[in-house]
Amino acid sequence: MKKWLQKGRFLSLFAMLALLLMGCGDPTLSALIPQGEVADKQFQLMLISISIMILVLVVVFVLYAFVLLKFRKKKGDNSTPKQVEGNHMLELLWTVIPILLLIILAVPTVMRTFEFSADAKPASKNELSIKVTGHQYWWEFEYPKEELITSQELVLPADTKVHVELSSADVIHSFWIPSLAGKTDTNPGDKNKNYMWFDTGSKTDVVYKGKCAELCGASHALMDFKVRVVSKEDYKNWVAGYKAADDKSSANADGQQVFEKNCLSCHAVGQNGGNTGPSLTGFGDKDRVAGILEHDKENLKKWIKDPQEVKPGNNMPKVNLSDEEIDAVSDYLLGLKLK
Ligand code: CUA
Repeated sequence: MKKWLQKGRFLSLFAMLALLLMGCGDPTLSALIPQGEVADKQFQLMLISISIMILVLVVVFVLYAFVLLKFRKKKGDNSTPKQVEGNHMLELLWTVIPILLLIILAVPTVMRTFEFSADAKPASKNELSIKVTGHQYWWEFEYPKEELITSQELVLPADTKVHVELSSADVIHSFWIPSLAGKTDTNPGDKNKNYMWFDTGSKTDVVYKGKCAELCGASHALMDFKVRVVSKEDYKNWVAGYKAADDKSSANADGQQVFEKNCLSCHAVGQNGGNTGPSLTGFGDKDRVAGILEHDKENLKKWIKDPQEVKPGNNMPKVNLSDEEIDAVSDYLLGLKLK
C-alpha cells in the first residue's frame, strides 16, 4: 500500500512538471506553430518522422510485453523453450520493415531539402532579397534593392518569398526564425556564403522571434532578433520612412552632440555614421534595448554605462561618459522615430 502511495506521488509530480513545462512554449518562437509554406512543409516532415517513431515504439513495446508475459518461467517447469535461430521469415521481416520505413522517411526529406535550397541569385524577380550578417552578438539586415540596412529587426511584407544571403562578420552563427523556416549557418568569409529562402505567411502585423542557433561565444544565448511581418502597403511606407530618417529626427540637441562625438563612428543613423555597430535608425520605435532588455530609458542607460554587464563579450566599448551625458544621449536615442 505504502509503495503504491509513493508511486502515485511520483506520478503526480511528473504530471505537474509536464504541465509546468508546457507553459514554456512561446507561440512566436515555435517550429510547431508554422507560418508560411516553408515552415508548413518542414512541420509535415516532423509529423512523418514522429509518426514512424511512434509506430516503431508501439510495435516494439507490444511485442516486448507479449514475450514477457507469454514466455515467463512457470512454477515447477524447468524445461527450455523451443529455440528459434536462422528463421528466414523473421530475418527478412526485420530487415525489410526498417528499410521500408527509411525509404518513407528519406524520399520526402531529400525532396524538401532540394526544394528549400537556394542559389546565390533569387529564383524569380518577385522575391525580396535580404543579406543577413551575423555579428557577436547582433544581426545586420541589408535590403540591397531598397538600399537600406537595419539591425536586430527584419521588417518584411506578408505573402512574400524572401531570398536570403547569409554571412558572418566574425565567427559562425546560425540564422533561425522557428515560426518561418529552419536554421541556416552564417559563415565568415566571402566564399562561404549560404543561401536560403522562406515565405512570410499570410498574417500581418505579427512579430516572430529569431535566435542565433550556433554557439558563438559568451552571449550566444542573448543573440536574439525579431521579424515583423506587415501588409505590403505598410512595408512600402516603412521603407520610405526608414530611408527618409536622419540623425536629426530626435529633438534632443545635447544628446545629439554627445552621440555625434562618441557613437557615430560605429553606429549609423539614417545614411550617416559607421557600420561596425548596429544601425540605430528609428531606435525609438524598437522594442528592445541591445536586442534583449525591455525598451526603456533605465535599461538603455544601464546598457550604455556598462555593455559587458548586459551582454558579456560583445564589442561595444565602455565609453567614458558622465551620467548627464548618458542621460542626454539616451533621450536622444529614444527620440529617434521613423516618420
Ligand atoms: Cu551568434 Cu550564437
